[in-house]
Amino acid sequence: MDSFLIRGGCRLKGRVEISGSKNAALPEMAISTMGEGKTTLKGVPRLSDTDSMCKLLGELGCHVYRHEPGTPTSIGMSAAHPPLNGPLEITVLEDKCCEARYDIVKTMRASICVLGPLLARRGKAVVALPGGCAIGDRPVDLHIRGLRKLGAEFTIENGNIVGTVRGRLKGCRMYLGGAQGPTVLGTINVMAAAALAEGETVIVGAACEPEVSDCAELLNKMGARIRGHGTPEIRIEGVDRLKGAEHRVIPDRIETGTFIMAAAITNGELELKHCNLDHLIAVIDRLEEVGVKITRENGTIFVSSSRRLQAIEMTTQPYPGFPTDLQAQLMALLSLADGISVITERIFPDRFLHVGELNRMGASIRKEGPTAIIHGAKELHGAPVMASDLRASAALVMAALVAKGTTRLDRVYHIDRGYEKIEQKLIAVGADIERISERISAKAAA
Ligand code: EPZ
Repeated sequence: MDSFLIRGGCRLKGRVEISGSKNAALPEMAISTMGEGKTTLKGVPRLSDTDSMCKLLGELGCHVYRHEPGTPTSIGMSAAHPPLNGPLEITVLEDKCCEARYDIVKTMRASICVLGPLLARRGKAVVALPGGCAIGDRPVDLHIRGLRKLGAEFTIENGNIVGTVRGRLKGCRMYLGGAQGPTVLGTINVMAAAALAEGETVIVGAACEPEVSDCAELLNKMGARIRGHGTPEIRIEGVDRLKGAEHRVIPDRIETGTFIMAAAITNGELELKHCNLDHLIAVIDRLEEVGVKITRENGTIFVSSSRRLQAIEMTTQPYPGFPTDLQAQLMALLSLADGISVITERIFPDRFLHVGELNRMGASIRKEGPTAIIHGAKELHGAPVMASDLRASAALVMAALVAKGTTRLDRVYHIDRGYEKIEQKLIAVGADIERISERISAKAAA
């Protein structure tokens, strides 16, 4: 397990190239198995999660090929920046296997996105039940409820969801909302399956996240007939078959938000290339109140912050509200704001494992149920801390960048799941980060 050694006190300055969205790319890779012929996805980030999805697609009979990376200089970035990814081609060679094994699912919960595509295209799916994770219980009941309404039958056998379809799925009108609001991957699973169902499906209470819309765009390029994506009511007119297509994955709004806040916490100045500020409207709203200056020109965002940060209140909500995936990073930022901030987590009420670690670095945060109360501190200090999940790790990296002294962050495999070349990108804009591989640390300890 690799660690990061981060020496704090830097001021981030320069340009960062934002990667394609992990949370759009993963379901889109699964959807690619539904087309006849080759699907080419551009901008798929190189992450351990996308590598796991490539492995899963290989087991499902797909040939997956990644083109060589492009050079950063070809888009005006300095040669110090990491190379850009080449397109990913996915071609179904045989369609007999219908199983996502527990070994893969336990490392990547997004494996659940193959459920809808497999049922619709192959008539059967065996997907290991994901189980809980560091951010909460993560049930998949809504995925199953929606697919059942389309006519799929399910049993749970030996920890696996076993789904079958007799004949063809049948479109219907359904409500897909749950106790915590809409489900992102559940909406994508049902929408993808409905694309090949007989007749019309209407999903009421659909998730409106940009990743859902991007999946709908890919499906439409493959020949699906989907309207209303991006709203709570999606209409899908089923078609007989889908073909391969070419598609560029949307920019990663969570990576963008993370870099905006990393610039702010270090009082820095960053230029973020290839991102979509429209996807971050609630985040910009909150950050402007904190005192962060954000402007945009075409696809580039300029961020700067040169004064004390103000305390604010924020509640996570489904899109277009403030995303849960940026809650931990905002908490790191507010731990240095003037005054008392309040953060309430409405999507995953237990997603607070970063609180204890930030407090180890000198933050003053108290948790009360789904709410965290943050008393702004004058400074943070370096400490050994442990990454518990992907976004919590990003928050700890941000805190370490500004802390006095050195922070050792263990278990950075969490961050490798979702932030492409994070330390290379940060080093290129002035951070002092060193990755220590398990092999080297074991040798040093001997
Ligand atoms: C997606 O997870 C993202 N993952 C998560 O990103 C993100 O935090 C989450 O959406 C919310 O925005 C991917 O896209 C791969 P949900 P998903 O179904 O779809 C409850 C990250 O850090 N629920 O929208 O699995 C659930 O417990 C990750 O990149 C049910 O009750 O989340 C939660 O309270 C982590 N039953 C709420 O709905 C279900 O069947 C929203 O979850 C499904 C969900």
